[in-house]
Amino acid sequence: MTYIGTPTPRVDGRAKVTGSAQYAGEFTAPDLVYGSVVTSTIAKGRIARIDASQALAVEGVLDVLTHENRPKMASGDKGYNDEVAPTGSPFRPLFDDKIKFNGQPIALVLAEEWEISRFAATLVQVDYDAETHSTDLHTRIDKAYMVEKPDKPRGNAAKAHAAAAVRHEAEYYIPIEHHNPMELFASTVTWNDGGKLTVFDKTQGVQNVQRYICGIFGLKPDDVRVMSPFVGGAFGSGLRPQYQVVLAVQGALQLKRAVRLVLTRDQMYGLGYRPATIERVAIAARNDGTLDAITHEAIAMTSQYEEFSRNDTSWSALLYKSANAKYEHKLARLDVPTPSDMRAPGAATGVYALECAMDELAVALKLDPVELRLRCYSDRDQNNDLPYTSKQLKECYRKGAEAFGWAKRTPEPRSMRDGTDLVGWGMATGVWEALQMPMGNRIVLTANGHAEVSCATSDIGTGTYTIMAQVASDALGLPIDNVTVKLGDSSLPHSQVEGGSWTAASVAYAITTTADEIRRELLALAQKMPGSPLAGLKHDDVVLSDGMIVAKAAASRSVPLADAMRHGGVERIEREKLSEFKEDNKHARNTHSAIFVEVKVDEQLGVIRVTRAVNAVAAGRIINTKTAASQIMGSVVWGIGMALHEETLVDHAFGRVMNANIAEYHVPVNADVHDIKVIFVEEPDSTVNPLGIKGVGEIGIVGVAAAVANAVYHATGKRVRDLPITIDKILG
Ligand code: MOS
Repeated sequence: MTYIGTPTPRVDGRAKVTGSAQYAGEFTAPDLVYGSVVTSTIAKGRIARIDASQALAVEGVLDVLTHENRPKMASGDKGYNDEVAPTGSPFRPLFDDKIKFNGQPIALVLAEEWEISRFAATLVQVDYDAETHSTDLHTRIDKAYMVEKPDKPRGNAAKAHAAAAVRHEAEYYIPIEHHNPMELFASTVTWNDGGKLTVFDKTQGVQNVQRYICGIFGLKPDDVRVMSPFVGGAFGSGLRPQYQVVLAVQGALQLKRAVRLVLTRDQMYGLGYRPATIERVAIAARNDGTLDAITHEAIAMTSQYEEFSRNDTSWSALLYKSANAKYEHKLARLDVPTPSDMRAPGAATGVYALECAMDELAVALKLDPVELRLRCYSDRDQNNDLPYTSKQLKECYRKGAEAFGWAKRTPEPRSMRDGTDLVGWGMATGVWEALQMPMGNRIVLTANGHAEVSCATSDIGTGTYTIMAQVASDALGLPIDNVTVKLGDSSLPHSQVEGGSWTAASVAYAITTTADEIRRELLALAQKMPGSPLAGLKHDDVVLSDGMIVAKAAASRSVPLADAMRHGGVERIEREKLSEFKEDNKHARNTHSAIFVEVKVDEQLGVIRVTRAVNAVAAGRIINTKTAASQIMGSVVWGIGMALHEETLVDHAFGRVMNANIAEYHVPVNADVHDIKVIFVEEPDSTVNPLGIKGVGEIGIVGVAAAVANAVYHATGKRVRDLPITIDKILG
C-alpha cells in the first residue's frame, strides 16, 4: 500500500484555502431571495397575534411567512422523523402558534437584499400568551425519569459498596455547551422549472435532509437534490436537519424563486447542544486498587417534545474490571430545544465523571492514577464479557506517560511549582466505539487510468475526501492525482449521516469491495488477450499496482490496465455496490486513549493554563496520520474548552440564552492552546474489518476535561467537579 498510513495532504486543501470550495450560504442563483428569521422571545405559550404589515411595507420585501400563511406541510410526525431523530414528536418550524422554546423561529422575512430582510425582520410585531416555563435542570431533578438501564445489573453493587474497604462517591456537573462551528447553518435553495429543488445545505447527511424535505413537503425524491460539498465544522450539530433548511424550502416554494437563508450567530444558540448533565459516580475498591463495584447515574435535560439521551453511564461498567456494576440514565423535561449530538456524545460527559472519580479514588488509595488503572485493567468488555478485536490501552498508558515524563510527578497536591505558578499533572482514560455502517460506493475507471470514486457521505472537515482518495488509489493501483472523489450529494450512492466516527472504516470498506469487482473485470479482460501472462489466475491471485494488473506470485507477470481495457474495447468500467462489513458478535469494538495534561495555575490570580498535553490513541490502522492527528489535536483543544471555558448561560427568568455569541461564550483561543502531542499507538486488528480501521473523529476529546480537572487538583489541592473550572471556583 502506498497511500494508506501516510500523512497525505488534504486533496481538497487547495480548494479550501483559495476559497474555491463553496459552502451552503455561498451558492448563488439568478434572482436570489434573501431570508431572515424572526425568533420567539418567550420560552413557552402561544402566539396570540403576529403582524407583519410594517415589515411588508419595506421596499424590497417580497413576503413574510408565519404559521398563518406558510406553504402546506405534513401534519403527522412521520414526515419530520429524520434518520437520527430521537423518540418523540419532532419540532416543526412555522407549523402552528405554539411556542416550545425561547429563540424558536416564528417568521421568515423574504426580501430582494439580505440587509432589507434583516431590517424588516425587526419590524414584525408579536403578541404572546405566555405560560410558566422551566429551563433549569437543577429544579427538575425530582421529575427526572429513567430512560436507560442495563438489562441485568452486574452482581450486587449496593451490597459491594456497603462492604467496601475504600469508597469514593461524588456528583459531577457538565453545563450546556454549544457547538460553535465556524460556518453558520445555511441553506441555498434553487427553484427550477416545474418545481424541482436543488438544496445546498450545511449538513452531515445529504440523503437524510433529502428524505426529510420530501417527507415534510410531500415532494418526490427525484425532485429534491441536496448538496453539501463542503462543511465548515459541524461536530454533530449537522446530523439532524436544522430548521433553516425547512424555512428556505418554504420560501422557495412560496415565491418559486431561489432563496438563501443563513442563520445569525445568536440564532445558532436556538439549535441543539450538549445537554447539561448531572453525573453521580460511586466506586468501591480494595486497598490494593482492585475494584468491587461501580455505579453511575446520569440526569440530563431534554425538551418537552423529544427524548434525547446518549450513553453516559455504561462506559463506567464497561471499562474497568469490577464484579459489580450498575448504571442508569434519567431525563428531565424542560422548555428548551432538543439537545443534540456533540463530539463523542455521552462519553465526553460520562467518562469525564468516571475519570475524575477514578482520580479521586487514586488519591484516597494513595496510588498513582496510572497504576490504579492498570490494577483494574480489563482485556474484556466488562458489560458483555467479550474480548476486544484489539485493545492497546496499556500501550497508550505506557507511551503517553513516557512522552509526557509522568515518572517525574510528585504525588502530593501543590508539590510542583514553576516560579509563582503551581504546576499540576493529571491524566485520564478515553474510550469510544468503533462503529461501521452500510455504505454505497461507485467507481468509474477509464482506460486513461483515471478513477472517479463517489458516495453520498459528507466531509465535515475530518478528511473524508482525502482518505477516500487514498483508499481508492491503493485499491486500484493509481497515483492519487488520478483519483477524483465526489461526495456530499444526495444523488450519489447511499450513505448514512457522517457521524459516530464510523465514516472512515465504512467508506474504506465500501471502496475496497467495489474495487475488488473492478479488479475482477480487469483480470477477465486481461485474460482475453492472446498469450496473456495472467492466464489461469483467480482475481484474488492478482493486485492492481502502478496502473497494472499484477500476479501476486510473480511481479513479472503483469498487464497494463489500459492495454486490457483497450484490447477488450472497453473505455470505462463502472461498478456500484452497497457494502456492509458483517461483524461477528463475538468481539467488542472500541477505541481507547490515555491523555496526560500539565496545567500551570497562577497561585494568586487563579488563572489556569494547559501548558502541555499528550494524547496517546489506539484506534486501529490510521489511514492518514496527518488528518487523524488533526482530529485528535482539535479534540484536545475542545477538551480544554470543556474543562476551562465553555458554558451556555441561561437566564431562567426568561428561559433565554444570555451569552449567545462567541465573545461571551468562551472557547479556547490561540493563547489558550500550547503544546499538544498526538501519539498513535500501533494496534493491528484483522477482526474489526479487513483494513483494521476504527475511526478517530471522537476518541480524542474523551477524557481530556477529566485530565485537566485532575491536573488542576494536583496543582492546587482544589477539587472542582462542576465544569467549567473558572477562576472564581479556584479562588472561592
Ligand atoms: Mo458526531 S457527534 O456523531 O458528528
